[in-house]
Amino acid sequence: MSRIPKETVDQIIQQADIVEVVGDFVNLKKKGQNMWAPCPFHNEKSPSFSVSPAKGIYKCFGCGKAGNSVQFIMDVENIGYVDALKYLAHKYAIEIPEEEVSPEVNQAQNDRESQYILSSFAKEYFHDILQNHEQGKSIGLPYLQERGLSAVTIKEFELGYSLEAWDGLTNAALAKGFQKQYLESTGLTIFKDTKQYDRFRARVMFPIHNLSGRVVGFGGRTLKSNDKTPKYVNSPESEIYHKSDILYGLYQAKQAVRNLDNCFLVEGYLDVLSLAQGGIKNVVASSGTSLTENQIKAIGRFTQNITVLYDGDAAGIKASLRGIDLILEGGLNVSVVLFPDKEDPDSYIRQVGDTAFKAYIDKNAKDFISFKTELFAEEAQHNPVKKAEAIKEVISSIAKIPDSIKRAVFLQRCSTLFGIEEQVLITEYNKHLRQERPKPAPATLPFPEKPTEPVLADPEEQVAADDAVLVHHEKEVIRLLLNYSTNRLPDGEAFVPYLLEQLEDVEFKMPIFNRIIELFREAVPQSPFISPDFFINNPEKEVREEAVQLLTEKFELSPNWETHQIIVPTETDMLQFAADTAVLRLKWRNVQQMIRDNMEALKYEKDVEEVTKQLTILKTLQQYEVEIGAQLGIVVSR
Ligand code: CTP
Ligand code: MN
Repeated sequence: MSRIPKETVDQIIQQADIVEVVGDFVNLKKKGQNMWAPCPFHNEKSPSFSVSPAKGIYKCFGCGKAGNSVQFIMDVENIGYVDALKYLAHKYAIEIPEEEVSPEVNQAQNDRESQYILSSFAKEYFHDILQNHEQGKSIGLPYLQERGLSAVTIKEFELGYSLEAWDGLTNAALAKGFQKQYLESTGLTIFKDTKQYDRFRARVMFPIHNLSGRVVGFGGRTLKSNDKTPKYVNSPESEIYHKSDILYGLYQAKQAVRNLDNCFLVEGYLDVLSLAQGGIKNVVASSGTSLTENQIKAIGRFTQNITVLYDGDAAGIKASLRGIDLILEGGLNVSVVLFPDKEDPDSYIRQVGDTAFKAYIDKNAKDFISFKTELFAEEAQHNPVKKAEAIKEVISSIAKIPDSIKRAVFLQRCSTLFGIEEQVLITEYNKHLRQERPKPAPATLPFPEKPTEPVLADPEEQVAADDAVLVHHEKEVIRLLLNYSTNRLPDGEAFVPYLLEQLEDVEFKMPIFNRIIELFREAVPQSPFISPDFFINNPEKEVREEAVQLLTEKFELSPNWETHQIIVPTETDMLQFAADTAVLRLKWRNVQQMIRDNMEALKYEKDVEEVTKQLTILKTLQQYEVEIGAQLGIVVSR
């Protein structure tokens, strides 16, 4: 990664006016203090995307995306931080001085860059052969035409053809001055003993693009239908081509995926091409390798919804099942469409036409539960053993979903579909969890089944819920710091140092909160009034993102104010009250957590001396609990 000097970064951020930067992409209308537009990141008619010129940030109240100018460019162009800065530097004609990089870094950068340039050259070369060379025109092009691909599709996906020769591309590249080293590292040329020859020969060529549209590798399909040569030959892994990160077609599809808020996932190059040509632009392929976590993450940047379109044969079904679990695990939503036996999306759309194809998908898309249920349903109907198997199948998928609310909803659906009491399913679900995730600590006792409580009854989830409350209180404190970072208290004292002092002995559970506190502590000696800009534009991504979220969420000083009927004259009074309460609540939760931990430890402690020691600690903690509780009682006037 290249580096941009700090002063230049500051200059870029200062000049990049949020209204101007965003205004290049959406039509902003002024309403009150802010500007509004339909969100560029999700599909909507009425505007919930707002820009605050005063704070220099944007925020969508629909999809939650938020940030400063740099973040906006990163989101809208799908590029990294450094590239976004470069984009803005270019827009505002700010020069980025070259910074010294180590020779190794420089070399690595050059290596990658050379591989990109060579891959781009190869793409042009193959494309040119397809369009202009005798072999391309008489063999490659007719093949693609016969498969129904139009000139427009061929151009959009930059398809090509490789000559029936040992040294077609290799010679052309060497003649252009490309080094052998890069022909080898991209795998375009194979070097064996003293021989060197083209990897791709007599094949139609599918260039594979990364998200910014640069070619990183190729797939090549043979035109012969015999078993002697593999149907597809693919580029090997290289510094620029990480197969597990890349999806074929995502570069061309990303805009449509975002707009339609759904991504079709198919298996092959030709499936992508046929569907895209038929007007279904939101389509990508995992291309030969089985789907990976990173590929799902890549889709997740554009939509939370994936529809898997796989072959209806046994292999296709197996692949769908694997895909479903992986997608669920990634926290995305998944539907499945199976095609009639012997058909893949490409052959099917060519057989029935675009309109009927779309109708088929609409009609046959099923969420994973219905899909799995129906898959096993026929056998399961009259066979209780099979039915049990089917239920286990579905439950194992539900267990993969990270979001507990979603899980609960799906368990409910599953109960309706199978006509089985939810309670039975939950018991089964808990059983499954124990099998899947053996508890690491051997001292832990088996958890009692708590059949009356739904999914949350799992003790692990109880802990998670306690944590959530703790984190909520932590968040309140950080939120106060960020939102009132330039305020004073009634006595004129600066707010930030006041609050920091009260937090002296508090360790936050969330690392990002600790980091923000640390940054506050570092900044205070220079000035106790710290502009939120310092966080909104912070070089650390996590800090920026967290700050923007906390600065834009709807937030009132004390939500319980009216209910406690305290009349407070000024905002500064309120601020002090809010801060004191927030800190006390946090400490109160922390103490309770410590008490729980302490009691848990006592359960398994056999050493008498140690037990006595722990009991003393417990007593002190309980005293604290009472004290803080009393303080909270006084302050909150319960
Ligand atoms: N694949 C591969 N190597 C093979 C076979 C397949 O890399 N020997 C990958 C390719 O990316 C291919 C995908 O798996 O696109 C799906 O394979 P398949 O369904 O056999 O090919 P199709 O793309 O459908 O090609 P065609 O319709 O021309 O048979
Ligand atoms: Mn096919």
